[in-house]
Amino acid sequence: MTDNSSNKMWGGRFAAGPDAIMEAINASIGFDKRMAAQDIAGSRAHAAMLAATGIITDNDAAAIREGLLTILSEIEGGTFEYSTSLEDIHMNVEARLKEVIGEPAGRLHTGRSRNDQVATDFKLWVRDQLDAFEGGLIALIQALLGQAEAGADWVMPGFTHLQTAQPVTWGHHMMAYVEMFGRDLSRVRDARARMNESPLGAAALAGTSFPIDRDMTAQALGFDRPAANSLDAVSDRDFALEFLSTASICAMHLSRFAEELVIWSSAQFRFVTLSDRFSTGSSIMPQKKNPDAAELIRAKVGRIFGANTALMMVMKGLPLAYSKDMQEDKEQVFDAADNLMLALAAMEGMVRDMTGNRTELAAAAGSGFSTATDLADWLVRVLGLPFRDAHHVTGALVGMAEQQGCDLPDLTLAQMQSVHDGISESVFDVLTVENSVNSRMSYGGTAPAQVRAQVARWQELLA
Ligand code: ARG
Repeated sequence: MTDNSSNKMWGGRFAAGPDAIMEAINASIGFDKRMAAQDIAGSRAHAAMLAATGIITDNDAAAIREGLLTILSEIEGGTFEYSTSLEDIHMNVEARLKEVIGEPAGRLHTGRSRNDQVATDFKLWVRDQLDAFEGGLIALIQALLGQAEAGADWVMPGFTHLQTAQPVTWGHHMMAYVEMFGRDLSRVRDARARMNESPLGAAALAGTSFPIDRDMTAQALGFDRPAANSLDAVSDRDFALEFLSTASICAMHLSRFAEELVIWSSAQFRFVTLSDRFSTGSSIMPQKKNPDAAELIRAKVGRIFGANTALMMVMKGLPLAYSKDMQEDKEQVFDAADNLMLALAAMEGMVRDMTGNRTELAAAAGSGFSTATDLADWLVRVLGLPFRDAHHVTGALVGMAEQQGCDLPDLTLAQMQSVHDGISESVFDVLTVENSVNSRMSYGGTAPAQVRAQVARWQELLA
């Protein structure tokens, strides 16, 4: 790869080209070619601005802008030849521009530097990912709303410590995830609004003596405004970190739900049947249907959070302004973005296709003394017992049922009265799981009517 000539783009003061190892550690073209479209968009905006401000001629700008489109089609058509000796996407494109249009190509880099160029390209790339992230979240939330609406009144056990706690509704459980992914959605929107300032025109670090118009390039690239400090503009990677941290929290949510789907789809739970489209078989055990997609989603948080940690470590000791360390930002973000989008899409597909097993859910909802709290509440409400005493009486009844090998509603009235003689027939009304969930009408509670109200609220929010 190494030849003896110095670098075409910056080699003026160099007598010899780089060592092969130097080239290998320095080059980013192997990965930053993913920002080709953003690089060309940024350069086209810059060229138009250079002409509008009289820094270069209209003819030169037109040749540059046209030549860049030619290069874009070469890249999209797969005919563009990338060169490692040209280090990165910025110099690969500019060198090719020279071949395509000749002398005017050399005027493109007036009043800018690769430092503001790479910050601009990367921001545009991350911004596209935030938009895709938003779309993926909305699709997933809609899939969850579909499940919640269909099963607003299906009863199932609610757990704490993964021990049966109180009956809840399927819809309520789905809506818990809607809230989580809804917060992710608001984080994505916040991050996008905050990051949308243009670094272009910050030049190497200090701005430029050319009379550039940064508002014009900012507007052309869909930014809200130019970034206000040139040192900060070229050295800021907060936008990438916000993407990664938002992605990490979302991946953590995906992982929690994936974990539940793994448990729920097991033969021991049978709460849910995953579709064939989102399951796999075993090569040795013919009976098996494995929740591989859920397991992989559960694992993705590892690499996404790893990317977040890695970039934090890259950035934490860097003095202002640009340092080459920052070239290590892209692979982390690319990998995290690819895997996040895949995980979101897989989760959306699984949720759309899965079947909640209503019968198994209901059977499990009634077991494990899940209405014990309802019984204690009845003792408070009807007999006027202090809650602590009611808790004690209920505990004795649970112990009795456990001893008899039955559930609370299976105890006779006489057996109950042997623990507390005030208990009357009407206690049996609160021991059914349906009555239990229907009674939890407090705002945000599990009653089907509350669930339906939350589904309607979210449908309106997303409409
Ligand atoms: N490939 C570089 C990167 O990804 C572009 C910026 C290079 N700037 C410089 N001063 N060497 O960060």
